[in-house]
Amino acid sequence: MKRELVIVIDFGGQYNQLVARRVRECNVYCEIYSYKTDIEKIKELDPMGIILTGGPNSCYEADSPTYSRELFELGIPVLGLCYGAQLMMHLLGGRVERADVREYGKTEVMIDKLESKIFEEVVSPTICWMSHFDSISKAAPGFEVTAHTADCPVAAAENGAKRLYAIQYHPEVLHTAEGTKMLSNFVHGVCGCAGDWRMDSFVEESIRSIREKVGDGKVLCALSGGVDSSVAAVMLSKAIGSQLTCVFVDHGLLRKNEGDEVEEVFGPEGNYDLNFVRVNAQQRFYEKLAGVTEPEEKRKIIGEEFIRVFEEEAKKIGAVDFLVQGTIYPDIVESGLGGESAVIKSHHNVGGLPDYVDFKEIIEPLRDLFKDEVRKAGLEMGIPEYLVFRQPFPGPGLGVRIVGEVTAEKVKMVQDADAIYREEIQNAGLDKGIGQYFAALTNMRSVGVMGDERTYDYAVALRAVNTVDFMTAEAAEIPWSVLQKVTSRIVNEVAHVNRVLYDCTGKPPGTIEFE
Ligand code: XMP
Repeated sequence: MKRELVIVIDFGGQYNQLVARRVRECNVYCEIYSYKTDIEKIKELDPMGIILTGGPNSCYEADSPTYSRELFELGIPVLGLCYGAQLMMHLLGGRVERADVREYGKTEVMIDKLESKIFEEVVSPTICWMSHFDSISKAAPGFEVTAHTADCPVAAAENGAKRLYAIQYHPEVLHTAEGTKMLSNFVHGVCGCAGDWRMDSFVEESIRSIREKVGDGKVLCALSGGVDSSVAAVMLSKAIGSQLTCVFVDHGLLRKNEGDEVEEVFGPEGNYDLNFVRVNAQQRFYEKLAGVTEPEEKRKIIGEEFIRVFEEEAKKIGAVDFLVQGTIYPDIVESGLGGESAVIKSHHNVGGLPDYVDFKEIIEPLRDLFKDEVRKAGLEMGIPEYLVFRQPFPGPGLGVRIVGEVTAEKVKMVQDADAIYREEIQNAGLDKGIGQYFAALTNMRSVGVMGDERTYDYAVALRAVNTVDFMTAEAAEIPWSVLQKVTSRIVNEVAHVNRVLYDCTGKPPGTIEFE
């Protein structure tokens, strides 16, 4: 059966991934393509609907992102959002101009055509999120105006017969009260999608196709214990059982007890049918890191040593047919392979294949999924919740949470402090509400007094941030009573720590990690 598909054509708007996620929340599979994608490719994809995103440009300027007018002649429903709406009007003969008043923020939208398919079950007026300088001053011929605001005569317009819809605001943003309903109206009511994209069927379908692809081949997976590689490994294990070998390198820079937890779940006593190899390489890493203080150098050493350890294990296993990578959809989009607002970072998972492992092909079972969908898939397959909802944890581990030289003693200090911090955040019921939080060990020693004795010990820094995309972040407000409890436990329970500091710095100018 052909999978129902809606595509998002990306004009560089900051919410491009959000649009696709909202569509998927309507149980319709959705992919993002750059506006540079050829129309022939779009025809080949044969989507049931097309959504044009917002973007930072003015559509009437010569070198602004645009698209072939033919897009509106394919008989496929099109929904333009913000820049996408303006471009649709501009290309089809309407007028877009710089507005006198910039509309920004929550805005009351008056619906003029309540029977529009887009506005089914939406009550007028409705609060929508606006963010635009330009505005549509005249709808294109064949279009009727279906909504307006105090400052904007055309907040929405449509050509119902051709199934073309333009809306000036952002339904994908949660500030648009009925936004999800409007998107659902588009994909279900207008495009006619049944909405059969569900995680249980995705998981089933993936397992079946992995089984088919791998046949009786051998598969190798580097397991880090993080969400993506864990979900990928479990999916593979369900598909091909012991044809899968997972190599877990314990570099001695994991969180407290993490190595044992990973082994408990994936090892011989665990829940899955696979070959599990744990490499206890802690000493090797500590030796390489001895005396090194420069953060980039530490990262390089950890990365290179990791490859060397993995390579040695891979050699023992011998040639394999497939190598698993835990690439997820944002990695693809952010590497510039999917959307447009794109090349934010060149992701280590995409494109660069390791040449030190003898394999024929890569398998990326999660490459179509957003992070929250990876988590859903994990839960669907019965992976324990604590694993599925793990915090993001950097590859170089605690190596980037210890300022200055990394030693086994310092690793122990930061592990213990971090475990206390995480426990208390959980006890206070704050864990799900904070983007990322952890303890780091500063390189500062200072004088303190404990039980009438002078101490000269280290300071731990607590970090907690809220963030949407990890590109920017702000320090989270943790209740004072929680910070006090964490502080008193850390200085009492962790040897050689006599001070606890809370890091209030946002990103920028800070980074999330503390190295
Ligand atoms: P920064 O510190 O750059 O972190 O603000 C942003 C996000 O990325 C994570 N991070 C890493 N993840 N390998 C990773 O897989 C790394 O080397 C790495 N460095 C930072 C960090 O935890 C945060 O979520």
